[in-house]
Amino acid sequence: MSFSVGEHLKLTLFGQSHAPAVGGIIDGLPAGELIDLNGAQSFLDRRSPGKSPLSTARKEFDISQILSGLTDGKTCGAPLAFVISNGDTRPGDYDKFRVQPRPSHADFPALLKYGDAHDMRGGGFFSARLTAPLCFAGAVAMQILARRGVTVGAHIAAIAGVDDDHFDLVNLTKEQAETPSQHDFPVINPTQGNAMKSAILTAKTDGDSVGGVIECAVLGLPTGIGSPIFDGLESAIAKLVLSIPAVKGIEFGAGFTIAGMRGSEANDVYSAPKGNKLRSKSNHNGGILGGLSTGMPIIFRAAFKPTPSIAKAQETWNITNGQIESLVVSGRHDPCVVPRAVPCVEAAAAIAVLDAMLCA
Ligand SMILES: Cc1cc2nc3c(=O)[nH]c(=O)nc-3n(C[C@H](O)[C@H](O)[C@H](O)COP(=O)(O)O)c2cc1C
Repeated sequence: MSFSVGEHLKLTLFGQSHAPAVGGIIDGLPAGELIDLNGAQSFLDRRSPGKSPLSTARKEFDISQILSGLTDGKTCGAPLAFVISNGDTRPGDYDKFRVQPRPSHADFPALLKYGDAHDMRGGGFFSARLTAPLCFAGAVAMQILARRGVTVGAHIAAIAGVDDDHFDLVNLTKEQAETPSQHDFPVINPTQGNAMKSAILTAKTDGDSVGGVIECAVLGLPTGIGSPIFDGLESAIAKLVLSIPAVKGIEFGAGFTIAGMRGSEANDVYSAPKGNKLRSKSNHNGGILGGLSTGMPIIFRAAFKPTPSIAKAQETWNITNGQIESLVVSGRHDPCVVPRAVPCVEAAAAIAVLDAMLCA
């Protein structure tokens, strides 16, 4: 069931980029939860493009329409079903990729798997358009988590090799986690943010694209949320985050650098617990041990590749004549997907964490 995820909280996404709509069904929400639809809309707006030269010029007005699952603004126990209409589509921009698949996009493997049935328009269901319903579901999850004292917040940790400051693995506060996402360009250090913006615009002028890293924190989880082995909290978060188009890696806590440490350096030595949460002096494990939350901040980073669709000429294989040919991708594409992907990462984390909490 590749369009569905979750154990207790089951999320199904549907739609394609150029279908009438994308949408989702969230089953398993606790009844009686007030959902602030204006708040969810503001969250969705953070993902929408067309607001600056840093993103695609496509205008996606992501207005969500609720079909079922709410009574008087509260969850009623039925699946919450919603749709978000698609607009500003240009299907003609994608015709040639049936013959000349874009390197690094899903075109080629999808054409081999689905043949003529593949919906190429806008990337079909491989399009990041499906992150709109992901974000709506994430906004709902974040509101429910907030009432349980759990905060999710992310920022752009790097773009094109320009680094932002990092979240403090041990002492990150709720305010520090939430502040970056209140800005149009969600970074901790605005000077670094300006350097990132310049790098995006330079790549765009070159007909090229850049990638980057998003760092995300989950605060307030008690110790012991999650399950061992296959349903571990790391696995659950990683599954949702890796499902976001263009994500190619995820690391928790010290991540790959932990591999170079000695045990005496890597081990998170305990200090006195605070209430129902363990405390440790360091947090190289990123708040998860054995698939269970430790009570320390959960902090992870997701690596995003550069946008595949670039205006610069590249070689590709012509499926019809078998020749290697030059491909220039026209159309309207993000020169860097990272700024728009920040709410997507928060949404993915929130959905995974709420599911784990409801399973506990
Ligand atoms: C918010 C967001 C916006 C994106 N915008 C574009 C885009 O404009 N053009 C493009 O080629 N890819 C874009 N992508 C990435 C592709 O959807 C993705 O690379 C492609 O579906 C292949 O999937 P994969 O990279 O995960 O293997 C975007 C991704 C995200 C998360």
